[in-house]
Formats: sequence, C-alpha cells, structure tokens
Amino acid sequence: MDEQLVIQTVDEGVATLQLNRPEARNALSDELRVALMGAVEACDANPDVGCIVIAGGDDYFAAGADIKALRDRDLVATLDSGRGRNLWQAVASCQTPIVAAVSGYALGGGFELALACDMIVASETAEFGTPEITLGIIPGGGGTQRLARVIGKQRAMEMVLTGKRINATEALAFGLVNQVVGKRDDWRAAAVELARVVARRAPVAVRMAKQAVLAAEETPLSAGLAHERRLFEIAMATEDRVEGMNAFIEKRRPQFKGR
Ligand code: CAA
Repeated sequence: MDEQLVIQTVDEGVATLQLNRPEARNALSDELRVALMGAVEACDANPDVGCIVIAGGDDYFAAGADIKALRDRDLVATLDSGRGRNLWQAVASCQTPIVAAVSGYALGGGFELALACDMIVASETAEFGTPEITLGIIPGGGGTQRLARVIGKQRAMEMVLTGKRINATEALAFGLVNQVVGKRDDWRAAAVELARVVARRAPVAVRMAKQAVLAAEETPLSAGLAHERRLFEIAMATEDRVEGMNAFIEKRRPQFKGR
C-alpha cells in the first residue's frame, strides 16, 4: 500500500483509512484507487479490525475520478478499466462494515465511494453531488443505482441529470447520511465512535448482519427472509452468542472472541 495516498491507523478495533491526495482534492487516480482497495482488503482480512472508517480531509472527502487522467482515456482503455474488480465493488463487498466520514465535497466517484460504504457520518460542511453530467458522462461507480435506492428515483434523477449538489442537512433529510456533526472538528471522531460501537460487537454476527441487510437490496422479500433465517441459524451456532447471552444473564460485559 502507498502510505502517501492512504494513511492507515488501527485503534481499538477500528481501522481508519485517510485519503491523502490534497493537491487534487483526493481525486481518485488509479494509484489512489489501488492503494485504497489494497488497504480495504487488508483490513477485511485482519481479525483485529472490527470496523473500517474511510475519511477524507476537512474540505473534501474526494472530488471523484481523476478528470485529468479520464480526459485522455479512449474507449478501449475505458473498456479495459472495467475488467476485474474496481474500488467501488471492493468496498461494497468488504465483509467488515465501513463508515464513510465525509467533510466538504464528496463528488462523482468520491460520492459513489461513500455510497458503497455501509454508513455515512457527515460534517455540516459536507456536499454530495454527481457532477458527471456536466462533463458529458454519467456516474460509473454505482452512483445511479445506489443513489436511487437510497434517496428515491425522483431525487436521484434530479441530481444525476443536473449535477446539482445537496448539503448535509438535505442529505440527512433524504436518509443518505446517518448523522451530521455540528462542530466541524468532531466529524472524524464521530465516525470513529460509531465504528467503535460496531467493533465492540460479536465479529461473526456483525458480518452476518451486514450481509443480511445488504441482501434486502438484492432479493425479493421471501428470499431475503429465508436468507436472513439461515444467517440467524449460523449466528446461533457461534461461541460468541453463548457468551453474549450468558453475559446478559450474569449482568456483565460480553467478551467476544470472533468464534
Ligand atoms: N480530477 C482531477 N483533478 C482534480 C479533480 C478531479 N476530479 N478535482 C479537483 N482537481 C484538481 C484541480 O484540477 C486543481 O488542480 P490544479 O491545482 O492543478 O489546477 C486542484 O485539484 C484544486 O481544485 P480546485 O481549484 O477546483 O479546488 P476548489 O477547492 O476550488 O474546488 C471542487 C473543489 C469543487 C471539488 C472542484 O475541484 C471540482 O468541481 N472538481 C471536479 C469534481 C467532479 O467533476 N467530479 C466528477 C469526476 S468524474 C467521475 O467521478 C466519474 C466516475 O464516477 C467514475
């Protein structure tokens, strides 16, 4: 992983991946995408990590795909770049929950990165948008699909067709973000705190719960309920659920082991 582009810290079960390309407003160059993908996959494989936070800077989460690189990409190169797993797929398929910590601009591919995460904590300065239409293209990292599912077709259509941005207050009202942090300095800490709560839970159950909720987007209700039931049964077979229930009855904190 390139330490310059993604700065990683792990503390109390939470891995924070800080995007670090300030000169380009964290535009997602090939190098940054590869570095972030590698970091996410490494965190997912690390048993000491119970939740991941992907954060940008105070004034920008990420300004989208790198327009300077995109400008010179022809059709063949674009088709080639669609082969294999891309960043947004890697983030969406990570079994460990991911919280996006967004302050300032989350635009284009940067917004799609936040949408591929499981929860979003925003500062009051956050702005979300899909400006691709102003460049003569459309979102290519899952934006049209995930945005419509989260905020509804009409609102997504307006954003995608006009390139209009929404602010943190609107994003909260639309159900796009989990919380808006009033004091500008605290947004990252709030995201880490949310992640810490998840990281304290039983790791196997957390992964199953994430899988079950995500299945709601993909499956009809009857299949989703059957899927949930299987995952519940597997959770019932874990040592951690015995510990969790004993701890409740014995009025003490559970000591989960991820088994
Ligand atoms: N790609 C490449 N470089 C970018 C960039 C991007 N997406 N966004 C900003 N930069 C660069 C600028 O070119 C500038 O570089 P120079 O110093 O070399 O001129 C530097 O970052 C600072 O940018 P600004 O002066 O514009 O900074 P600002 O603070 O005034 O504005 C901003 C910030 C609102 C994010 C503005 O930079 C902006 O609108 N950026 C483009 C956003 C955009 O259109 N994103 C969609 C990209 S396409 C996409 O994402 C496709 C996809 O889904 C896969």
